[in-house]
Amino acid sequence: KSILLINGPNLNLLGTREPHIYGYTTLADVETNSRDVAASHGASLESFQSNHEGAIVDRIQEARGKVDGIIINPGAYTHTSVAIRDALVGVAIPFIELHVSNVHAREAFRHHSYFSDKAAGIIVGLGVYGYKVAVEHVCVNFEEKEK
Ligand code: DQA
Repeated sequence: KSILLINGPNLNLLGTREPHIYGYTTLADVETNSRDVAASHGASLESFQSNHEGAIVDRIQEARGKVDGIIINPGAYTHTSVAIRDALVGVAIPFIELHVSNVHAREAFRHHSYFSDKAAGIIVGLGVYGYKVAVEHVCVNFEEKEK
C-alpha cells in the first residue's frame, strides 16, 4: 500500500511554532514516525510539505493512480482553498483531513473547512499523535488500488 502525507503552509515550523498549541515535535520527526508506522504495516509512505498552494495541487495531481490514500493537514489552506479541495476530488484518492490543534476550540474562521465534506475521515485536536492514528487507519482500512 502506498500513502502520501501532505503538510501545508507553516507546518515546516512544527515544534517551534506556537508550541503551546502545536507541541514540540518537529515535522521531521512526524514524517519519520509516520514512515515507520506505515512500514510496520508493510506500507510505504512519502511525505511532502509546501507553503505554496499550487505546489500542493501539483503534488496531488502527480499522485493520481499511484497512491492508495492521502493524509493531509492543509494548514491555513483548510479554510480558504477551493483549488486543493478540487485537486483531491479530481484525483479521486480517498483522504484523511488532519489538524494538530482542535480547530473548533479556536477562532471562528478556523471552524469552516473546504475539505471535511469530502474526507474519508477527520482527525482534530489529538496533537501530532493524530498522524499515527491516520497512518494506521489508512493502512488497515483503505483498499489497495489495482496498479
Ligand atoms: C492546523 C489548523 C489551521 O487552522 C492552521 O492554520 C494551521 C494548522 C492544525 O494542524 O491544527 O496551520 O491545520
